[in-house]
Amino acid sequence: MRNEVVFYLNGKRTRASGSESTLMLSDLLRYERGLPGTKVVCAEGDCGACTVLVARFRNGHLGEYRSMNSCIAPVYSLDRSHLITVEGLKRADGLHPVQEAMVRAQGSQCGYCTPGFVCSMAGMVDSAKRKGCAIDSKMVRNHTTGNLCRCTGYEPILNAGGSIDPGKVPNLASLYPHAPMEAEFENLDASVRVGSPEAPVFLPATLAEALRLRADHPQAKIVSGMTDLGVLTNKGKLVAGPRIALHGVEELYQFTDGSDAFRIGARVSLADVEDLLSASFPEFSGMLKIFASPQIKHSATLAGNLMNASPIGDSTPFLRVAEVTLMISRLGASGQVETREVGIDAFIKGGYKELDFTGDEILTAIRIPKSDHCYALFKASTRKDLDISTVAFAARYRIRGDRLEGVRMALGGVAASVVRMPDEEQMLEGAQIESGLFLRTADSAQNRVKPLSDVRGSSIFRKVLVRNLLLKLGDRILNEAGLSASEVLV
Ligand SMILES: Cc1cc2nc3c(=O)[nH]c(=O)nc-3n(C[C@H](O)[C@H](O)[C@H](O)COP(=O)(O)OP(=O)(O)OC[C@H]3O[C@@H](n4cnc5c(N)ncnc54)[C@H](O)[C@@H]3O)c2cc1C
Ligand code: FES
Ligand code: FES
Repeated sequence: MRNEVVFYLNGKRTRASGSESTLMLSDLLRYERGLPGTKVVCAEGDCGACTVLVARFRNGHLGEYRSMNSCIAPVYSLDRSHLITVEGLKRADGLHPVQEAMVRAQGSQCGYCTPGFVCSMAGMVDSAKRKGCAIDSKMVRNHTTGNLCRCTGYEPILNAGGSIDPGKVPNLASLYPHAPMEAEFENLDASVRVGSPEAPVFLPATLAEALRLRADHPQAKIVSGMTDLGVLTNKGKLVAGPRIALHGVEELYQFTDGSDAFRIGARVSLADVEDLLSASFPEFSGMLKIFASPQIKHSATLAGNLMNASPIGDSTPFLRVAEVTLMISRLGASGQVETREVGIDAFIKGGYKELDFTGDEILTAIRIPKSDHCYALFKASTRKDLDISTVAFAARYRIRGDRLEGVRMALGGVAASVVRMPDEEQMLEGAQIESGLFLRTADSAQNRVKPLSDVRGSSIFRKVLVRNLLLKLGDRILNEAGLSASEVLV
């Protein structure tokens, strides 16, 4: 077992062990490696000042470069990666074309946000070049939703991004030859133990090894994309202790498009889920477009969103109505991996963060059955981008003639967990589609839910939101059924 983390930083080999291995990456860069171009403002993944580009080693190769927030990424999670910071984008013969475009368009004033914007846009250009597509203003906006600027104003920044021709920009991979890095990573022992004796951090290489560690250290925290855990750590709300990070477990990256279901491994990022499900579940993929930012979605996982068990987790209402099942593994007495499959309704037990899950288990995959149902997913939040839901709503249904069938609905943000709506489902199931039906259902839901008041909205506000979301669903279904509302749904 290796006792140091190894990665490349702007083409140079670097190692970290002991307390350095558990620093947040931004701290390592700024204070230990003399690279202060990467900035820190919020330390919560919200502002993008700390954005860097990472290519991870898997199956013998370094993958594509993706933007991520270095303020909430622990150094150990970078093992066997190549990291490019804003300093590393510059070439021997001048600035990177994104940097040049920012200068030309006057996209920087105090400059504190600029390295983050530059890294996000360099990642965008690299991806557009790979896909052979041109850059438009919408693409620049989408790729910079995770970057905030307090002084320039966004127009010059968007102009800078929009002015770049990906065809004229070198691949990021060409700036730093991958072959020598890949050769070294291939020969490294993939199992790692770093951290301290009291708070060891394990990076297992296989699922069996991860489960063995889980059995031996039941108090250890499982670490995946770290986007929830990183924020908790920086806020001092997560006590130091053993960690089992899943980044090196290849089995967990598998995505399978089976005859009757998709199987999404626990380490598949939300950015990949958004792409992979875009044809079969366009509503869910569309909802993920307004989930967090690209930097967060490049690290965060669907499994992590579910396991975090937040009552306002945005994917959970969809997972409930899509009737997903969860593959949960543990090490059996004979030392073999044992996997049980549990339905989402049984898995979410109803209390705050109460799941059917024990300390020796790991969620390995989420199975989403294919279906011919329609889905409606609505997220009500104060801002459209990079905001937490006040109320999240999901519905699944089929229209048969003038009636509804197969109705399932779920709400987030109104109870201790994401809840189903059995009374309202019953009202809609088999019912004739007409506007009065949705008015009655919306009133029922509003009267039944008992949300708490918090900083995002009072209980009364949330109740009204619930009613409005049900009416929005009604409006959509009336349209889909070719009926227009005989009265305004209010
Ligand atoms: C700026 C920002 C914006 C965000 N925006 C949104 C948003 O719009 N909507 C939203 O719902 N969330 C949002 N989040 C929250 C977060 O990004 C998601 O919950 C994300 O999906 C968590 O995934 P992760 O892989 O990073 O989990 P981690 O942080 O690594 O882990 C989260 C929890 O799940 C457990 N866990 C993870 N994987 C497994 C596994 N395989 N088996 C067992 N336990 C596991 C961990 O132990 C931990 O308790 C945001 C976070 C940030 C910082
Ligand atoms: S410092 Fe704000 S996202 Fe990292
Ligand atoms: S240039 Fe000052 S914050 Fe963006």
